[in-house]
Amino acid sequence: MGSGKGSNFQAVMEQIVNGRLNAEVRIVISDVNHSGILSLAHDFQVPGLYIQPGRFRTRIEPEIETDIVRLLFGAEVELVVLAGFMRIVKEPLLSAFPRKIINIHPSLLPKFPGLEAWKQALAAGEKVTGCTVHYVDATVDAGEILGQETVPILPGDTPESLHGRIQLAEHQLLPAVIAGIAERSPRPA
Ligand code: GRF
Repeated sequence: MGSGKGSNFQAVMEQIVNGRLNAEVRIVISDVNHSGILSLAHDFQVPGLYIQPGRFRTRIEPEIETDIVRLLFGAEVELVVLAGFMRIVKEPLLSAFPRKIINIHPSLLPKFPGLEAWKQALAAGEKVTGCTVHYVDATVDAGEILGQETVPILPGDTPESLHGRIQLAEHQLLPAVIAGIAERSPRPA
């Protein structure tokens, strides 16, 4: 699930296509019509769906989350990956996929949860930041950490240059964490 340009989705697909990640993307869901992630889904011939999020700004309307759960179950999804999904996941999605939803966040959590974490790290005068993949639960950006990658903050870095460098690290970390989960998951015979 994503709201943005979809570079993390692309990184995952590239690892699948080149045989380094033994997984399959069954469905891409976006709360933003015509988002980059949906056009990439189309390019990779993965079903992509725009879901109107409803009347709230930071979450999906519960009735619509119910529809999403139905779609994910229908697609026999085993792991939900939030890759730049800009809404807080709530019920019923959380209970439908316990410890089966992961998110990529652009900081070394627990430092700098929330929006534009790279800007927060820069403003705080950090020398090092990075990215984190974590389980999604009822907390915001505080679920169990599955993996982290550090990224140096260089003199003269702008928010854009730093975010770009963090994204390169994300593109390594997210497929690697998914690969680890896939290896640990029992497969039907
Ligand atoms: C990433 O920086 C991710 O950490 C944040 O949103 C951004 C998504 O980028 N949650 P993309 O859409 O995968 O290019």
